[in-house]
Amino acid sequence: MKPQTDDLSRGTGAATPDAAWDPMQYSHFADHRSRPFHELVARIPTLSPRRIVDLGCGPGELTLTLAARWPDAVVIGVDSSPEMLAKARELDPDGRVQWVEALAEEWEPAAADGPVDVLVTNATLQWVPTHLRLIPAWFEELPAGGTFAMQVPANFDAPSHRLMRDVAARHPRAAELAPGLDRARSVALLETYAALLLDLGADVDAWQTTYLQVLASEEGAEHPVLEWVRGTGLRPVLGVLREDEERDAFLADYERELEAAYPRRPFGVLFPFTRLFAVAHKTGEPTGTPRGNSPDTSEIPS
Ligand SMILES: C[S@@+](CC[C@H](N)C(=O)[O-])C[C@H]1O[C@@H](n2cnc3c(N)ncnc32)[C@H](O)[C@@H]1O
Repeated sequence: MKPQTDDLSRGTGAATPDAAWDPMQYSHFADHRSRPFHELVARIPTLSPRRIVDLGCGPGELTLTLAARWPDAVVIGVDSSPEMLAKARELDPDGRVQWVEALAEEWEPAAADGPVDVLVTNATLQWVPTHLRLIPAWFEELPAGGTFAMQVPANFDAPSHRLMRDVAARHPRAAELAPGLDRARSVALLETYAALLLDLGADVDAWQTTYLQVLASEEGAEHPVLEWVRGTGLRPVLGVLREDEERDAFLADYERELEAAYPRRPFGVLFPFTRLFAVAHKTGEPTGTPRGNSPDTSEIPS
């Protein structure tokens, strides 16, 4: 089974000028965004981890909940965004968590200064196009009893993202906008993640959920789905377009499409959102080599 793209060659995302992460913007809708994290972490079977890494920790609130659940563990939050890490440090004045700036593509468990028993990565790997190549190396580094737990949005074909690409495709700067928007295609099928981890000898618990999110919508306010994607999926567009009429025109066009696709109703706007989860537990002796045929990841550059 192949990932949903044939072109994952853009690496870290540094090649496309995404807008910087804005912790304030991202923290809107915090309830909707945090629920999948808690549902993921609830399935981690490792009882007394010594070290826990939250890869792509963002603004840190959720990482701090790991520290609360496992008070004796060393907890490390890794993220490539200085803005996100600054917010995380602000939320953690006592330094309970070690906050580390690094790209997921370059970070290795060995950097953690001791065995990492739990590696959590929530809503991050969609920004890391080479992640299907990275996961096996991360899993192999876990000691016996360790767990790798991931969640990624699987909404590349949802109207929110399809319409963004449609509006970008008819924009005068379409060629510059396309690469950043295509990056989310690197999210693979649920079966691909499950097979990849099963082949490594893991006990795998994998599932997919569509949350029917109800977003509040105030008369005259920006459409809430636009507000939602501003903090995440729209950043590649915001990074390319100038902060003037050029950006305003794009947003007005896109918002018109969103108004039709996600109509405002008296109770708000229904915004279905699908997410994939995989929890891989390493039991017994580490296997070292895959047990069976790995999914075809040959088109993914290392
Ligand atoms: C959608 S936020 C998720 C944050 C947090 N895990 C949560 O669930 O709220 C994605 C995070 O991934 C980080 N990120 C994106 N690309 C990354 C990369 N290549 N390496 C490390 N972190 C990355 C961003 O800086 C951002 O904080």
